Amino acid sequence: MSVIIRPVQKKDKEKWFQLWSGKEDSYLEFYKALDKVSDETSEYTWSRFFDDTVPIYSIVAEVEGEVIGFANYLTHKNTWTVEDALYLNDLYVSNKNRLKGVGRLLIEEVYKQADALNCNKCYWATSFDNYRAQLLYTKVGVDASKKIYLRPPR
Ligand code: ACO
Repeated sequence: MSVIIRPVQKKDKEKWFQLWSGKEDSYLEFYKALDKVSDETSEYTWSRFFDDTVPIYSIVAEVEGEVIGFANYLTHKNTWTVEDALYLNDLYVSNKNRLKGVGRLLIEEVYKQADALNCNKCYWATSFDNYRAQLLYTKVGVDASKKIYLRPPR
């Protein structure tokens, strides 16, 4: 399978949205979050990928002209370093294209982008029970052994 990893383009909108928030086989559906992220928010997120003043990015995996996965990431300031840090916010590969190395390719490209953006820290989080993702993450990263806490709902 020949996979191209490249920055998202405006022409990818329909397919990217299908993988982001489609009723089936999408990232928000995987997280049972279709009702938590509004269409307006998704549109806003999409628009910021193309805003040079905002450090939010998306790369996609393309096979035979079809977008089959994405990685969304952002950079932010860090009190411990002069350089920014890069946070991988979202990673998704469509069901039928999993276990073919696409997730790994997307993360490897995120690492390249971290270097290009001069971010010496590159990190992400996943659920304790997302074993499938962890099978990949233990191969391409190291376990930071940290817990994430959230402010309670107001
Ligand atoms: N037994 C053994 N090894 C396994 C198994 C298994 N059952 N399942 C996966 N692996 C290993 C593979 O051997 C492979 O390792 P390799 O590169 O050394 O061969 C690795 O795990 C899988 O790697 P890929 O094929 O590159 O990953 P894939 O393309 O399947 O994508 C992903 C992984 C993105 C997690 C995909 O399953 C997915 O989209 N899941 C749903 C959404 C999700 O969980 N996203 C991540 C949430 S966390 C976040 O967004 C930051």
